[in-house]
Amino acid sequence: MVEKKPLSELLPAAEAAPVSLLDWRPAYGGILLEEMVALLRVVRVIRPSLIFEIGTYLGETTLQMAANSRAEVHTLDLPPAGHADFDPSRPDDPELDVYPEVPGRRFADYAGPSRIIQHFGDSRTFDYAPFAGRADLVFVDGCHHEEFAASDSRKALEMVASGGAVLWHDYADYAPGVMRALDALSTAVPLRHIAGTSLVLHLA
Ligand SMILES: C[S@@+](CC[C@H](N)C(=O)[O-])C[C@H]1O[C@@H](n2cnc3c(N)ncnc32)[C@H](O)[C@@H]1O
Repeated sequence: MVEKKPLSELLPAAEAAPVSLLDWRPAYGGILLEEMVALLRVVRVIRPSLIFEIGTYLGETTLQMAANSRAEVHTLDLPPAGHADFDPSRPDDPELDVYPEVPGRRFADYAGPSRIIQHFGDSRTFDYAPFAGRADLVFVDGCHHEEFAASDSRKALEMVASGGAVLWHDYADYAPGVMRALDALSTAVPLRHIAGTSLVLHLA
């Protein structure tokens, strides 16, 4: 198990960090309000220049991370064609976490921060080389299968800059593959589960 700690202990400055929600629209498959606040507090403290998100979905978190920083925000999801192939009749695979919506709809429709750069591809084979050691914050929120979560985690650790942070979503019973991947990773890399959320934090 990844050890659980309050965010105030992990990153004391985060407790008092004010965050803003830009026209926040919660949606099924997105992150909860208390998780969004914790994540944005980390963003405010880290003051990133470059953020990389694995798993765009509607782009709600992408938009809020851009609104709470001056960062260039890169976000990766499967190509829209992959989403069109999504088969909602596959109840056998609740961990796939792929939705029929076009990724990034929220920031595409919103006349807000224009620092968002969208990428399409499979997170296991995407070329992360241009981001190696450059991302001040990586947010891992893709497929919940253990193999994907482990691969996305390795890529995140390659991208994160010294002094930066990696945050994972879905360290929770509903995503056992993510839990197994992070439990295994925690034997080699310092990870902490942020109390009251399904977020896991690594400070690089
Ligand atoms: C939980 S949603 C992301 C939620 C989003 N980060 C947010 O906070 O609102 C997971 C996303 O991961 C994407 N995904 C799943 N497998 C993927 C893969 N192999 N490569 C890239 N994206 C993937 C899905 O299409 C889905 O949009």
